[in-house]
Amino acid sequence: MPSIKVAILGFGTVGEGIYRILNERKEEIKKETGHTIDIVSILVRDTAKERLATPGTRITDDVQEIFATGDIDVVFEAIVGEEPAYSYLSEAIEKGCHVITANKTMFAQHGPALLKHAAFRGVQVCYEATTAGGVPIIRTISGLLPTDRVRRIRGIFNGTSNFILTKMREEGIPFEAALHEAQVLGYAEADPTDDIGGKDAFRKLMILSALSFGRQPDWQDVPIVGIDGVTIEAVKDASAGKLRYRHVADIALDENGALHGSVGPVLIGPEHPLYGVDGVDNAIIVDTDHLGALTLIGPGAGMYPTASAMVGDLLQIVGKREAVVVTS
Ligand code: NAP
Ligand code: HSE
Repeated sequence: MPSIKVAILGFGTVGEGIYRILNERKEEIKKETGHTIDIVSILVRDTAKERLATPGTRITDDVQEIFATGDIDVVFEAIVGEEPAYSYLSEAIEKGCHVITANKTMFAQHGPALLKHAAFRGVQVCYEATTAGGVPIIRTISGLLPTDRVRRIRGIFNGTSNFILTKMREEGIPFEAALHEAQVLGYAEADPTDDIGGKDAFRKLMILSALSFGRQPDWQDVPIVGIDGVTIEAVKDASAGKLRYRHVADIALDENGALHGSVGPVLIGPEHPLYGVDGVDNAIIVDTDHLGALTLIGPGAGMYPTASAMVGDLLQIVGKREAVVVTS
């Protein structure tokens, strides 16, 4: 049985999730694809850190050690920030590896260049996990595009923000305590500034803009506001008036073909489709010419939802389109 050799760059919340799913679902993956998946190497920053045991897999802090073996088929990337992630993935593509990334900071900026490079080299770049965690929004929009036209995309794109707003409303706990819980659960970034400041949602919006409209607006033209200014008193006042705060990112095409985006907290009433979307869930409403409004809702962050999206990408590369469903 042919084996697919993979490397995992990053072994935090997401990288460990990939490792766990590939091991826990080994037999199902073999049955579905006809391949065994061999996790050859894992890249970390600090090899001395105590972490999950990974027998038979090399752990290194030197990416060149991984590339030097010359036999990696697929590189999973789950490290943090634009660099060195972009350089590592460019090198992986150049060496003929398929690439699967969760890194939206890097992909919002360099996604178009990576996709172009990959097309030239005849490999695939998959990025389902960059946007809305476990919600298959990239696959859904990609599937619509050949026959339909996207007009507008709006929704909740940051699980940490939605989790904090929900905790403040439902349990009356202060912002900082709710953020701490989101960090413990692995929803927030190591530095949560961009989660609560709105930039994380903005980057996901830019990734969807490039996919749906073939371009992004000028980044400086998109106003970005986070939830860091939303107080517990404001949340209580909103609830008293049967309103809820949601952090919404929105981008639309106008009749002249110009793109208009915005990111920030909004107050919505019970009739709004985002009113009931609570906790770490994300929700995306896609308006198209043929479908009207299509709404996808699901977990927007966390180990298993995110890693599951990435393993789904692997199955797509290997030739089986449906993701392995993970219930835990
Ligand atoms: P994390 O828990 O902080 O883990 C990051 C991992 O990357 C760690 O293992 C770290 O090594 C390694 N790393 C960081 N910089 C590195 C470098 N320069 N060279 C080598 N290794 C490096 O982060 P995470 O939550 O797993 O997120 C990983 C990526 O997925 C991020 O880009 C994030 O935005 C994205 N993402 C996260 C989620 C989520 O729910 N957490 C969801 C979707 C997307 P050490 O362990 O040695 O420190
Ligand atoms: N920190 C991000 C969030 C992870 O809370 O949505 C998923 O991209």
